[in-house]
Parts: sequence; structure tokens; C-alpha cells
Amino acid sequence: MYLEEGDVAEIGLSSHRIFDASGQAVERPVHVSTLSNESMELGEYRHYMQKEIFEQPQALADTLEAVCYSQSLVPGIFGAEAAAAFSQVDSILILACGTSHHAGLVARYWLEEIAGLPCSVEIASEYRYRVSVANPKTLVVTVSQSGETADTLAALNHARAQGHTHTLSICNVPESALVRLSKLRMLTRAGPEIGVASTKAFTTQLAALFLLTLVLAKQRGRLNEEEEQRHLHDLRHLPSAVQAVLKLEPDIARLAENFADKHHALFLGRGLHYPIALEGALKLKEISYIHAEAYPAGELKHGPLALVDQDMPVIAVAPNDALLEKLKSNLQEVRARGGELYVFADAGTRFHSGEGVHLMQMPEHAGYLSPILHTIPLQLLAYYVALQKGTDVDKPRNLAKSVTVE
Ligand code: F6R
Repeated sequence: MYLEEGDVAEIGLSSHRIFDASGQAVERPVHVSTLSNESMELGEYRHYMQKEIFEQPQALADTLEAVCYSQSLVPGIFGAEAAAAFSQVDSILILACGTSHHAGLVARYWLEEIAGLPCSVEIASEYRYRVSVANPKTLVVTVSQSGETADTLAALNHARAQGHTHTLSICNVPESALVRLSKLRMLTRAGPEIGVASTKAFTTQLAALFLLTLVLAKQRGRLNEEEEQRHLHDLRHLPSAVQAVLKLEPDIARLAENFADKHHALFLGRGLHYPIALEGALKLKEISYIHAEAYPAGELKHGPLALVDQDMPVIAVAPNDALLEKLKSNLQEVRARGGELYVFADAGTRFHSGEGVHLMQMPEHAGYLSPILHTIPLQLLAYYVALQKGTDVDKPRNLAKSVTVE
């Protein structure tokens, strides 16, 4: 039974009662779950987080199913009214919290570059209390794994109260409050995520946001047939590309041993991969309790370089993209201060392991989809560092899976 806003349920061994917000006893319809027992069982894995990291190829394939079997992209994947709504939209506002907010930060690069739409991304708990200038032509996109995060729901209500009418939610839970509140929706099909640290929910959110970008770009005449087919091809290849990255697990487990006695870590990325550095830092801090921060690598010299010494591991996300040479010179600055580097580099980037440089070679460069691939080793790193530290991986202290209170 899905509870309505304000409902309270009393559950006994053989009975239950539900009261609505005014205290009246009410009945709510029963839905029979289609989830298989298997999706809730650990199977061969030690923790749900590990299982969920390894479920990512399937979760992505499921999320992309409708698109991968079709020959072209249609707005209908976001709802029957999407085509009409998208044709009126001149900008995007993404609202989310935590990991979902990081997905929004990646999407901003895609939406501006590929679809040519101005995009802002706001932390929902801040937006809800900010006096902002509403543009009725903005598409408000809320991103949430659970669809029950109080701040994200309040931010959506705040946006609506300010006059925003175009609303879209990207969510993993079909019947959630967020989905019910939004006009348009795209469901990620990651399956239940039990580990508190979000993994497969994040990468499927990215896949959904990339689809949104492509659909908007096409509708705005910014995607020709050849480009559309190329993107579709890359999306079809994504699950097997993720599978290839997961093979790095044993190497990352070994690398993680170096972090057991560390108290701080610095994550660096540039451009599209700066939000991935943020996500890597969040994963590490929430499950291993190591203090971690992320910076766009170009910001190093504006402050954080002062922190770098031999006790500060510096983790770099190094895709083979246009900013590679800039990143390399940023990393030289780290080495020159004695910082120990852990570089997750694409093929062809010509990084070499050596004194103070640990190289983790990624199989390929995935272009616009690269942030999805680069997320995987950082999830694994956080997981194996947490094992080293002996923390409760699936239920880190002080955190809840669904943050339904402010
Ligand atoms: C981090 C994590 C949280 C959530 C955040 C929002 O691993 O899981 O930062 O991303 O609490 O939750 P949702 O996506 O359910 O709105």
C-alpha cells in the first residue's frame, strides 16, 4: 500500500490500520509487488552495495530498453504530453539532493553542449528557501532515486508555487510522491537499491538525463540523423562497456589497501568529470568515513594545493578528452608537492605508473557517456576502502536510505 502525504500506518502481526492527515481511518489500495525475491537477495555478494555496483550493466540495459530497440528517439518516453511541453521550453532547472544532484551537474554539460539549452542545477534544500526568478518556459527536472526525499519534493512544490508548469521527474520508484507530483516522468529501471550509498540509481539517472538531452536536442533541430544513430549506438554499447570496467575490481581492491590509514583524500576532475570527482568523494566519505573533497583540477592553485603532502592521496579522473593536457599539468603540480596520485585514465592518455603515481587503466574512452564509466571504479574504490576500515558498508552511521524529513 502506498501511503498518501500525511498518512500514518499502524502495523501489527496480523492487522494494520491507516489514518490520513486529519486522523480519519482510511483504506489504501493494495498493489501486489512484481519484485522477485532474487532482486532482494545477496546471492554471491558480501554486501548489497557490491551487488548493486555489479548490477549496473543490467540496470542500464533495462533503463535504456525502450530506446535501444528502437531506431529513433521520441519524446514519448517522458510521457504523452512531452512533445508539446518540450516545444515550449527554453531552459532547464534541475533540482535534487546528494548523489542525484551530482547526476544533474553532469547533465548540465550535456544539455548546454548538445541541446543548446541554458541549464542550472540547484541543491533542492537550498532552492526551496531561495527567492528566485521563475521563468515559465523553464522545464523543472527533479531527480531522485526514492522519489520521497522531503527537500526535493518541497523544491518541486516551491517551483510550482512560483509559476513553473513544466515539470519532469526522473525517479527509480514508479509510485513515489515525486512521480505523482510531476507532469512528465522517466522511470529509471535500476531495481530496488538497498545499500544506503547510491550506485546503480546514479548511473541510470545519468542514462535517463542523457536521453532527455538527446530528445530535446532532436526536437530543437540540433541532432541530425547520423548523430542520432551514433548516440543510439553508443547507448546500446554502454552496458558492455560498464561490464568491461567492472573487471578492474581486483586491481582496485589492492589499491584500496593504501587508503586504510588515511584520514583525508582529494578527488580531482575537469569539465564533465568534475561532478564524477564529487560523486567519488561523497561515496568515499559516506561509507569509509575518510574525509574527502572534490575540486575541479584547475582550482587547485586557488587554495587546495596547500593541503597536498605525502599523507593526502589525490584521486584523478582522467578521461581522454579535450581537457587532458590541462589535467596533466594540474597533476604535475600535485606530484611536485609530494602528493601521491591515483589516476583513473582512459586508454590513449599516456599516463605511466611510477614513483608516487598509481595508474588504473580504463578500457576505452566513451565520449559523452564517459562519466558513467568513470563512476564505476570510484564506487569500487569506496567499497574496498570501507572493507579495509571495517565499516558497515550497507548502513553507514547516521544516514538513512530515504531522507523523508527535512
Ligand atoms: C549518497 C546518497 C544520497 C542521496 C540523496 C538523495 O550515496 O544516496 O546523497 O542521493 O539523499 O536521495 P534521492 O535520490 O532518493 O532523492
